[in-house]
Amino acid sequence: MTAGDAAADTTIVIVGMGRVGLPLSIAFASAGLRVMGIEDDPARRRSIELGKMPFHAPGTEQPLLDAVSSGRLTVHADPADVVPSADVIILAVATPLAVDLRADFSQLHRALSNLAPHLRAGQLLILRSTVSPGTLTKIVIPYLRERIPDVAGNLLLASCPERIAEGKQMQELRELPEIVGGIDQASTEAAASLFRRLNPGKRIHLTDPISAELAKLFTNVYRYVNFALANEFAILGEYYRVDAHRIIEMVNRDYPRANVPLPGPAGGPCLSKDGYFLVEELTLPDFVLLAGKLNDTTPAHIVRRLARRLDRHGLPLAGAPIAVLGKTFKRDSDDIRQSPAVRIIDTLWREGAEVRVHDPFLSTPPLEEALAGARAFVLATNHSFYQTLDAAQVAALMAEPKVGMDCWGMLDRDAFAAAGMDLLTFGVGDEL
Ligand SMILES: NC(=O)c1ccc[n+]([C@@H]2O[C@H](COP(=O)([O-])OP(=O)(O)OC[C@H]3O[C@@H](n4cnc5c(N)ncnc54)[C@H](O)[C@@H]3O)[C@@H](O)[C@H]2O)c1
Repeated sequence: MTAGDAAADTTIVIVGMGRVGLPLSIAFASAGLRVMGIEDDPARRRSIELGKMPFHAPGTEQPLLDAVSSGRLTVHADPADVVPSADVIILAVATPLAVDLRADFSQLHRALSNLAPHLRAGQLLILRSTVSPGTLTKIVIPYLRERIPDVAGNLLLASCPERIAEGKQMQELRELPEIVGGIDQASTEAAASLFRRLNPGKRIHLTDPISAELAKLFTNVYRYVNFALANEFAILGEYYRVDAHRIIEMVNRDYPRANVPLPGPAGGPCLSKDGYFLVEELTLPDFVLLAGKLNDTTPAHIVRRLARRLDRHGLPLAGAPIAVLGKTFKRDSDDIRQSPAVRIIDTLWREGAEVRVHDPFLSTPPLEEALAGARAFVLATNHSFYQTLDAAQVAALMAEPKVGMDCWGMLDRDAFAAAGMDLLTFGVGDEL
């Protein structure tokens, strides 16, 4: 591939057909490019070959089917089959947090090790996964230089982190500005030209690899810290027995310098780990990890508050049937990785509660079954499905004392009170 020229016949290999790699593959295939996915998981490969999404991602089903049936997207197990003929290779494997709270790059190492023997001079290699600062220059390039010294110096290399949000993948792949950090001008231009194929009007920020990697981490950590602050405001609202949601609304409305997010349990596979990546090498005190601590302990705060309220009704949490509504980490997603709702469920289990879980995006028993005879419910994920929960129907299914814990301020407190329920809301003091 030559710099500044992503021709219509450009062929792309994308390693990792996950929540980042597959939507990106579909987007490039829909833009007319030839995409060859490499995926380890045979079940995932099979699903893609059948034109069926292996996870929920709105707006991807039909484009996937079109891409597969036209032959513009194929999926493979062995890099040897496709890497030698590709112009571009994009790494989109997972980079979770290891138990020592450092980045776990085992998937990245294995992907590089499998790719290396098949790379050839002139190819563009893009790091799309979220990584700690300096990964392209301090880990990927030294590895390639050692393993394939004759080729490594003749590759175009860039860090181009993914910033899409789950649920908005296809729209955001078209619309979000790209951050493109090449190791030299030729690499930066080649990568920018490739991403312009997704949308010729796409804004592209050109930079160096470490700035691109930091920009991704700043993006996520900024949101995560703000969520933590909103959760601290929620706890303050409870402490002062007022409604933090209404206060936040007053703060934000018609005031140009405030954009406080909604309080609620925050987590997920990206936000909960990226702060650790960011401050991995920092020896100074920082508030990124403090924000993580606040978000991580919000589920325990919610369970403690529910337990206190049940106690006031004379019911111990241990042994109480509790329905948890929502298990995924965010609204209208089927992703449970690092979900705060799972933390709520685990904490309830540990306290001895009899937990039943319902989630409209997972295969769980129906809502009515989870609520039948439950002494309390926790609305843990703000799926739109729960927006229309009918207070009278919920109350009719449950058993006394019919306590509800709304972690998102989604439910109509007056309607639930009128139905004879004792509804608590995260961020709202008990006795207003
Ligand atoms: N999930 C998101 O919305 C999102 C958004 C922005 C950035 N990110 C980042 O993007 C990266 C990918 O995340 P994800 O959510 O797509 O992960 P994922 O776990 O959904 O997907 C990774 C895929 O790679 C496959 N894989 C792993 N090693 C492989 C190998 N050597 N060869 C072939 N396939 C291999 C796995 O089987 C899996 O299907 C991570 O760094 C993540 O932090 C994720």
